[in-house]
This record gives sequence, structure tokens and C-alpha cells, in this order.
Amino acid sequence: MNSSVGSPTNDDNGEAPGESEAISVFEAVGGWEYFEALVDHFYDTVADDAVLAPLYPNDLTLPRLHTAQFLQQYWGGPSTYSDERGHPRLRMRHMPFAIGQAERDAWLAAMLAAVAAVPMRPDLADESAVAVRQMLVDYFDHASTAMINQH
Ligand code: HEM
Repeated sequence: MNSSVGSPTNDDNGEAPGESEAISVFEAVGGWEYFEALVDHFYDTVADDAVLAPLYPNDLTLPRLHTAQFLQQYWGGPSTYSDERGHPRLRMRHMPFAIGQAERDAWLAAMLAAVAAVPMRPDLADESAVAVRQMLVDYFDHASTAMINQH
């Protein structure tokens, strides 16, 4: 995985363009607050979605927490998820849920709506925000397809 992007801005930190350190996606988007907001937006959609809601428990508190912890870890932030829950093994953890193409498509639509809606840190350069959004979209597209376990 390449989860590095250019620094948010080069113009106000005294460095010539290209001299700054690359930063992780975790830092670029705004850290924990971003992933928490992303996951909140996603699960608000899940709760109202006719395809997705039946798959999830009524109380979405723990799925919200675990998904945000997983995503921040995946994108270069603290490893709280694995510290508390062990190796992610996401495909195995999803085996109890019947995930076909329709479920995957509904899941991806809900997550892409969250990616489009939730703002990244305000000082992130526009071109970096576009690049990071595309990395997130590509990841969610591939990873959600990998979670299909019913044909
Ligand atoms: C990019 C793809 C996906 C990622 C990164 C992801 C991530 C996660 C994570 C981290 C958890 C919590 C696991 C834990 O308890 O430690 C979870 C739970 C869950 N996910 Fe996914 N997931 C993905 C795709 C999907 C898809 C396509 C579906 C099907 C619609 C789905 C349905 C569920 C359900 C039903 C739970 C269980 C909630 C619970 O009972 O606690 N996920 N997911």
C-alpha cells in the first residue's frame, strides 16, 4: 500500500516545493476526527438502508468504533484496532454475514457518499484532497469486492 501523500501545503512553511516530508493519508485527512466522522456518516446511511440494515446489529456503537479504528490503522494512524482486536482478517470476520453483489454495492454506495460528504482537514491542498479521495475510493471499491462471500 502506498499511503503517503505530499504535505498539506508548501507555501507557508518556509520549504521549497518538493522539499517537505511526505505524510500519511491518516495525517492528510485530519486524523481520528476524520475517520470518526466518515464512519458516522456511513453508519447513519446503513441504519436507514433496506439492504444493509438487516445485516447489522441494532446497536451500531461497536461497529462504528471498530470500523473507525480499523480505517485509521490501515491508513497509517495508531494501531488501536489490532492492539484490541488482533489481526484484522476482515474477510474472515465478514463470513457470518451473507454478502453478495447487492450487499457489496449498497455498502460501497454508502461509503462513497461518506467520502464525498465528509471534509478533510481545511489546510490540505485541493490537489492533495482530490488525490487522497481517489485513494480512498479505489481502496473501498477493491476491498468491498473482496468481502463478497455469496454468489
Ligand atoms: C472496504 C470494505 C470493508 C471494510 C474495510 C469493512 C470493515 C469492517 C470492520 C473493521 C468491521 C468491524 C470488525 C470487528 O468487529 O472487529 C466490520 C463489521 C461489519 N461489516 Fe464490514 N467492512 C467492509 C465491507 C463490508 C461489506 C461489503 C459488508 C456487507 C454489506 C459489510 C458488513 C459488515 C457487517 C454486517 C459487520 C458486523 C457488525 C457487527 O456485527 O459487529 N462490510 N466491517
